[in-house]
Amino acid sequence: MRKKIIAGNWKMNKTFEEGMALVTEINGMLRDEYQGSAEVVIIPPFTHVNAVSRMLGDEKNISTGAQNCSNHASGAYTGEVSAAMLYSVGAKYVIIGHSERRQYFMEHNAWLAQKVDAALAGSLLPIYCCGETLEERDSNKHFEVLEAQIKEGLFHLAAEQFSNVVIAYEPVWAIGTGKTASTQQAQEVHAFIRNLVKEKYGDTLAQQTTIQYGGSVKPDNAAELFAASDIDGALVGGAALQSRSFVDIVKAMR
Ligand code: PGA
Repeated sequence: MRKKIIAGNWKMNKTFEEGMALVTEINGMLRDEYQGSAEVVIIPPFTHVNAVSRMLGDEKNISTGAQNCSNHASGAYTGEVSAAMLYSVGAKYVIIGHSERRQYFMEHNAWLAQKVDAALAGSLLPIYCCGETLEERDSNKHFEVLEAQIKEGLFHLAAEQFSNVVIAYEPVWAIGTGKTASTQQAQEVHAFIRNLVKEKYGDTLAQQTTIQYGGSVKPDNAAELFAASDIDGALVGGAALQSRSFVDIVKAMR
């Protein structure tokens, strides 16, 4: 069975103290309330990654990630953070190609392919994001856009490398808007993505690939989304900033 992953992307929120308090609460609540086997990933800003991963220590099924990394391994790139640095402070995952990075920081597929390589070379597991805008969906271009994002960002990888990648489908129109894709819309895209992976890498690897959904996931819509056969977890933004709502989303994954 493929791995189910619920990740909380804090984006640029929470001071250090607030972040530490939130992780402490989440960890305690999961210990008391969650018996399922999904992996939980806490993805705070860079400044908190070290402390969050130390706080979680060897806790089972909960790990730490980062929101971005450089496409370079090291060197004169002021302001950048490398995958190896993040790995050295306890990160396991890194988000690559979140739509906010694509939109506000001009990160495009070819550039993201380099970041995926850098993440893997630095021992991090990429959570590669894809998703269409409302305009692209309304003009029925979404499959074309998603296919380009997946192929150009990931399909240069050898199968063994690809087996370390998690994919997150996040329709841009559903992020932070309160408007979730319907389970049918999400399932349709997830099945489409899994089929692309199958065509490239074969059915076994396609069946093993974790594909998360992201975009206004909340406690009251999580269970229905997770019941769809190709939805293997969630990348949660707003609802991950509060322990109760985040833990309730995790608990929706049995
Ligand atoms: P949201 O964000 O849950 O606030 O819509 C999801 C994301 O951007 O990963």
